Amino acid sequence: MTGIPPGETPASGTPAGGSPAGDMPPAGAGVLYVIACAAPPAAAVGQLVSLAQRRGWDVCVLTTPSARRFTDTGALERQTGHPVRSEYKDPGEPDVLPDPDAVIVAPATVNTINKWAAGICDTLALGILVEAIGKRLPIVALPSTNQAHAAHPAFTENIGKLRSWGVSVLFGADVHPLAGPGAGDSGLGAFPWPATLDALQERIQPARGD
Ligand SMILES: Cc1cc2nc3c(=O)[nH]c(=O)nc-3n(C[C@H](O)[C@H](O)[C@H](O)COP(=O)(O)O)c2cc1C
Repeated sequence: MTGIPPGETPASGTPAGGSPAGDMPPAGAGVLYVIACAAPPAAAVGQLVSLAQRRGWDVCVLTTPSARRFTDTGALERQTGHPVRSEYKDPGEPDVLPDPDAVIVAPATVNTINKWAAGICDTLALGILVEAIGKRLPIVALPSTNQAHAAHPAFTENIGKLRSWGVSVLFGADVHPLAGPGAGDSGLGAFPWPATLDALQERIQPARGD
């Protein structure tokens, strides 16, 4: 997995050239929610936004509350033209985002994977993910973790559960090799953002009869 292909925007946040509106293709693929959890790749989630916009998605970014420390929400808002939401709205408040047609959760933490599989909804991100299974939306998850974290039996079990419920969970040495605990992500190559969009396309094409 090579990470960002040649010619893609290498940095997080607003693409080179300023406003995204200029280099976004006409909308057409639908509304994509990109949910970022609190792991280091979240700092570069703008790369996934750029890739998805080039494939025609109207992208809305949501983060877990903890992931706000890892992301530049102002840059993501300029890039997407939508607010970056992390908290449930107040009762009676209108929705500020369009409804999703598809969801990518990347990076997905061990914490969010385990809570999602248990049906826990104590963050907005989890509420959307739990509902998305119920709505049978196409969902792709790309976990970020280390070998020790991933070795907890609940994590493997929960990946299996999510897959059995129709979620495309991209996890394994062929997708993204795991570092040892404390080693960070150094030396393991770029986070494989493009794989999430490829997996989503595979999910959607048969459903649309393409
Ligand atoms: C610097 C740093 C790096 C982290 N990296 C990861 C990681 O790669 N994977 C992971 O599952 N948790 C990681 N964590 C722990 C999560 O941030 C923590 O479990 C948090 O509660 C997850 O919240 P969320 O699932 O709501 O985003 C990291 C924490 C810190 C401070």
